[in-house]
Amino acid sequence: MSTHINAPEGAIAPYVLFPGDPYRARWIAETFLDDAKLYNEVRGMLGYTGTYKGVRVSVQGSGMGQPSMAIYAHELMNDYDVQAIIRVGTAGGMAPEVKVRDVVIASTASTDSAMNRARFGDVTYAPAADFELLRLTVEAAEAQELPYRVGGLFSADQFYNPNPITQTLANYGVLGVEMETAGLYTLAAQFGRKALSVCTISDHLLTGEETSAQERQETFDSMIVMALEAVVALDKSADKKRAQ
Ligand code: HPA
Repeated sequence: MSTHINAPEGAIAPYVLFPGDPYRARWIAETFLDDAKLYNEVRGMLGYTGTYKGVRVSVQGSGMGQPSMAIYAHELMNDYDVQAIIRVGTAGGMAPEVKVRDVVIASTASTDSAMNRARFGDVTYAPAADFELLRLTVEAAEAQELPYRVGGLFSADQFYNPNPITQTLANYGVLGVEMETAGLYTLAAQFGRKALSVCTISDHLLTGEETSAQERQETFDSMIVMALEAVVALDKSADKKRAQ
């Protein structure tokens, strides 16, 4: 049991899918996992553990924004010994080369968050994805012929930002805006664990284009499969390392 997750030791798998929306956590658990069992409903932030292709996997809601996400990511790694967290979410497209429904696998994330300033002061820390998890996710996407892009996201503190910096960031190659990845990568680095964000572009800041609910769902499905296949591959690789 931790402060915000009411689960006994061992109830959470070493691999966690991490959507912002707790109802999405329930949907992922019910749609993709076998024998999914609810382990948390404190504050409605649902968490489930089940199996995918025989590998134990959990799905935990993170809430929106780095402060909420960081509470759950910290407790998953610090109190439940979680080894790898894959955020599965949505992002707003910022660059012209990104279209709605694209899946962005985030190699890094810039941020305007005060959280990283509190940790690093004047140093601009560069949060980075775990390379093995990134590679395995790309391989899973290619094996299933699922379209994807690898690049940087912008983890913004404000969804409704009156002073958007997104155009400047897009000029520097940032693909999309969301609200969690920089904090997740920073925490994973703190705990020496693996993290990756995979985000569907749900709307576009330049073109105003949006996805329909059905399109979002279909793209979301392929993103979840990508993440779960990466978990299976990661588990195999961990088995191999254990056997060495
Ligand atoms: N801003 C922040 N987060 C988001 C957006 C956005 O435009 N779209 C999806 N997640």
